[in-house]
Amino acid sequence: MKYTLITGASAGIGEALAKKLASEKHNLILVARNAGKLTQISEALVALYGVDVKCIPADLATLDAARKVFEETERQNLQIEILVNNAGIGSGGEFAELSLQSELSLLQLNNASLVAMTHLFIQAMRERKSGSIVNVASMTAFMPVPYMATYAASKVFVRSFTEALTEEGKPYNIHVMLFSPGLTKTNFNESAGINNEKAVGLSSDYETAAAQTPQEVANELWNALNAKKHFHVSGSRNRFGSRVLALLPNAMIARYMANSYRKKLAQI
Ligand SMILES: NC(=O)c1ccc[n+]([C@@H]2O[C@H](COP(=O)([O-])OP(=O)(O)OC[C@H]3O[C@@H](n4cnc5c(N)ncnc54)[C@H](OP(=O)(O)O)[C@@H]3O)[C@@H](O)[C@H]2O)c1
Repeated sequence: MKYTLITGASAGIGEALAKKLASEKHNLILVARNAGKLTQISEALVALYGVDVKCIPADLATLDAARKVFEETERQNLQIEILVNNAGIGSGGEFAELSLQSELSLLQLNNASLVAMTHLFIQAMRERKSGSIVNVASMTAFMPVPYMATYAASKVFVRSFTEALTEEGKPYNIHVMLFSPGLTKTNFNESAGINNEKAVGLSSDYETAAAQTPQEVANELWNALNAKKHFHVSGSRNRFGSRVLALLPNAMIARYMANSYRKKLAQI
């Protein structure tokens, strides 16, 4: 049986995507840390749509987690037709004052595990000459973001890696897509600690700005995947924004972002 594997499926965009794909009759493999939440989502999707849903709880911020997830799919003989690397975490505040350990964990989750998952699951896709890989980036993939320095850089990595793999996948009929949401109403800020004192300038931005719902983002991802796009920015405002950003020098963007953050902080 064919499956779509979604990382970060216990909340936010990943959960909304699991619901969308189940409604489109995809069998699913859900990966995240919160086993209870995964089971709850899985039971609801099985009851509603009659699809097969497996849960593999894993902490992808740890070194060998991707391999353990892969081995579990092998043990259960599950064929992964679509891999969605969605799990991700942010961080905000002055870089020098953030915990080094949590910045490195962020890179392990957002980058190293994404690379490992892709490497492990792409092998069978190459042999079969079919499959899709979707990597979830962010608007921060298009710019340096002072006071979210590591997170933004991790998404630049996701963008570059995915755009390169898009070409490597073509001779094997593997469809690779970079999907970039903009601000989305999820638990992302709380999980990232972007509601702490140091990051308050970032969080107020997040709460007042126009944001998509995770359902809207999941629908766009599904449509872009069906249309075999290699690159999609979610939301028309974000698409416009990404085009403007491409015209501006990175140093100018970084200076503007830093100044507006400092200004907001001074007003608090
Ligand atoms: N929300 C936004 O404004 C926004 C904007 C641009 C891009 N994005 C990107 O969209 C993706 C999804 O974010 P979201 O907004 O849906 O965030 P979210 O609501 O915080 O959900 C994050 C998901 O990732 C999982 N996750 C977190 N740490 C994990 C770990 N160590 N191992 C395995 N799974 C882990 C979480 O589940 P557990 O806690 O159960 O592990 C959860 O299912 C991320 O890559 C994010 O960078 C979000």
